[in-house]
Amino acid sequence: MKKLLSADEIAEGVAGLAEQIARDYAGRPLTIVGVLTGCVVMLADLIRLVDLPLRLGWVQARSYRGTSTVGGVLTINADLLPDIKARDVLLVDDIFDTGRTLLELINQLDELHPASIRSAVLLEKEGRREVSVRPDYVAFHIPDEFVVGYGLDYNDLYRNLPYVAAFEAKDLESTDGWHQI
Ligand code: IMP
Ligand code: MG
Repeated sequence: MKKLLSADEIAEGVAGLAEQIARDYAGRPLTIVGVLTGCVVMLADLIRLVDLPLRLGWVQARSYRGTSTVGGVLTINADLLPDIKARDVLLVDDIFDTGRTLLELINQLDELHPASIRSAVLLEKEGRREVSVRPDYVAFHIPDEFVVGYGLDYNDLYRNLPYVAAFEAKDLESTDGWHQI
């Protein structure tokens, strides 16, 4: 594995996001909705830097995939979502890859009539976008490589690495089944 972003670089990037978010929503209550499970490490760091009246909620996204790297059928569980009607919502996810997850989440949350929905991600992969929507806040743009650490997993492992590392193609093997993203 090759280290892409050190813990210090990540901390700087997350602090930059927090600054933009606090400025853009200044004085307004905000509901941050984390996309489980990849969001948890970044979310814990981010929310402590955002000085706003803040609520937290969660959605769980799972996809069935034929291999570990190719996205499949997406299912979304919104049981852990608070009432977002008429609230400003910020979705937080680990990475924007094809964008299919974010698009689906925005479409589903929109039906609950929030005042607004924006999105923040730690990483955006270059040249992978398949949808018209883009994340509103991005800490880092990275090349098209499979990455792990700081919340991001490979087969549910490596989320606890304090840095972000890229897998070499030879390290990737395909597995089938449901995968929590
Ligand atoms: P999407 O293609 O933008 O819908 O991304 C779906 C999800 O796939 C992301 O939220 C991540 O959980 C996961 N994902 C995409 N690329 C990577 C990666 O390089 N490493 C780990 N997870 C990834
Ligand atoms: Mg994820």
